[in-house]
Amino acid sequence: MMHKAQHSGVSSTILDAHDVNTRLRTGQVRVCVIGIGRIGLPTALSFAKSGLAVTGLDVNEELISRIRSADFPLEDEPGYREIFEAVHGTDLFSVTTDPAKAIPDSDVVLLSLPTPMDDSSTPYYTALESVASDLNSLLTPGSVVVVESTVEPGFVESEMAPLIEGDRSRLKISENFGLGACPETANPGEILRNFESLPRLVGAMDANTADIISKVYGHVFPVDLIRMPDCRTANAVKLTTNVFRDVNVAFVNELAILFENLGIDINVVLDAAKRKYNFEPHYPGAGVGGPCLPVNSYQLLNTASGLVGGDSLLSMVRAGRRANEAMPSHVVNLMFDGLHEAGIAADSAPVVALLGVSYKPNVRDMQLAPSREIVRLLRSKGVVRIRLYDPYYVGEEILGVKAAASAADAMHGADVAVLVTAHEELLALDARTVSESGCKVFVDSMRIMSPEEAASAGLVYRGVGRGTSNEEGDNSDRHPS
Ligand SMILES: NC(=O)c1ccc[n+]([C@@H]2O[C@H](COP(=O)([O-])OP(=O)(O)OC[C@H]3O[C@@H](n4cnc5c(N)ncnc54)[C@H](O)[C@@H]3O)[C@@H](O)[C@H]2O)c1
Repeated sequence: MMHKAQHSGVSSTILDAHDVNTRLRTGQVRVCVIGIGRIGLPTALSFAKSGLAVTGLDVNEELISRIRSADFPLEDEPGYREIFEAVHGTDLFSVTTDPAKAIPDSDVVLLSLPTPMDDSSTPYYTALESVASDLNSLLTPGSVVVVESTVEPGFVESEMAPLIEGDRSRLKISENFGLGACPETANPGEILRNFESLPRLVGAMDANTADIISKVYGHVFPVDLIRMPDCRTANAVKLTTNVFRDVNVAFVNELAILFENLGIDINVVLDAAKRKYNFEPHYPGAGVGGPCLPVNSYQLLNTASGLVGGDSLLSMVRAGRRANEAMPSHVVNLMFDGLHEAGIAADSAPVVALLGVSYKPNVRDMQLAPSREIVRLLRSKGVVRIRLYDPYYVGEEILGVKAAASAADAMHGADVAVLVTAHEELLALDARTVSESGCKVFVDSMRIMSPEEAASAGLVYRGVGRGTSNEEGDNSDRHPS
């Protein structure tokens, strides 16, 4: 194993170096990014672009061989293909599945590992825990470890630190290795832009490590570095921003249902409300998915439930989750309601075309996508003739359906089109096109067309948050249960 002192040509490690900035400028800091998925790969590429030699480590062999053969896996991240092509094949960027090849030679180890939850919405951290155990045997003293994954406040201190230290015979935190947190806050689909503009949070187990992490990130990203008193506070900030969004979206989702019943259009309400200085608009839809917002709310709830009496804390976060998780069912109800108005019986085996199925616009990612629940509910109600179109999955089998080549193909001969996720391309969908495809009903989760436009094209229209003043009372008896 090559020791750091040999490869860097200097005698000290990054932890005790007085010349970190010089080392960074001269490319004498070696970096390992563990987990090169949605966040880790762009991170590794940004570090390589800054002139530091980066090794990406991942358990996914298929991903590693794709990257090795120069097949860039994140086409929906603008700007990164160019960076990938610039560093691929150079000494600055390599990938491996072997921890023993990647970890020991690294001065800085970034963890960008998944932090998902199980079917009962309990967050789990097995990837981080397993890598922490690898670090116990493979991390070279003098290195700095940075947890970028989203974890619960206190997880770095109480779970990661003891796992990496082990019996403390080789590694001692803040004595011969550093540990910190720099939670990732980028938004899929615009990671490069975010990396160049969003401030980063830096917390660590000691001030020296926080200084080093700030210098390293400051070398790579031209953004403000917000110094946190510790790792737990850095993770608390990350969760606060995302749970804030989850709760606010839940609020407008509930308003949307109320306004549908009152004959009020939520778009009109939000457009006017946002003109008040202290109102921040959030928008209703078919639900909240992805690897972050739903999980982050459950992470905070999980943290609270670990405290005595904690189960009674954060009741609005719990209620918000319930409201957001009910939206797919609401969309399905709107669909049956529209079919009823169009004279198509719920038990007549209607053909349904779903448009946009990934969890958010302009990104290829199905994690916790509301469309999953919509399809499950449809099937549970006997609707089996389901088509779908999503520009990111053309021709692929997704949710048990072979995705159509175009929105027009999916809608051709269908009874109802349900817009779930408004990808850029789908924003251009007009009512006449939907009507000419043969669809009688358009369900608009994202309000891409006006009810008037839909009506003038002869469509029955149902939009999330779009009340029509002529609706009557409770329609629940129109839906098969
Ligand atoms: N995707 C986002 O929108 C986003 C935004 C901000 C923060 N985050 C957070 O960043 C972290 C990573 O998320 P992501 O979206 O990049 O996840 P991802 O699933 O896209 O990537 C994670 C990668 O880690 C790899 N991996 C899993 N176990 C491993 C192991 N034991 N050793 C090595 N590699 C392993 C996986 O194969 C995968 O390639 C999570 O904590 C997430 O909450 C995600």
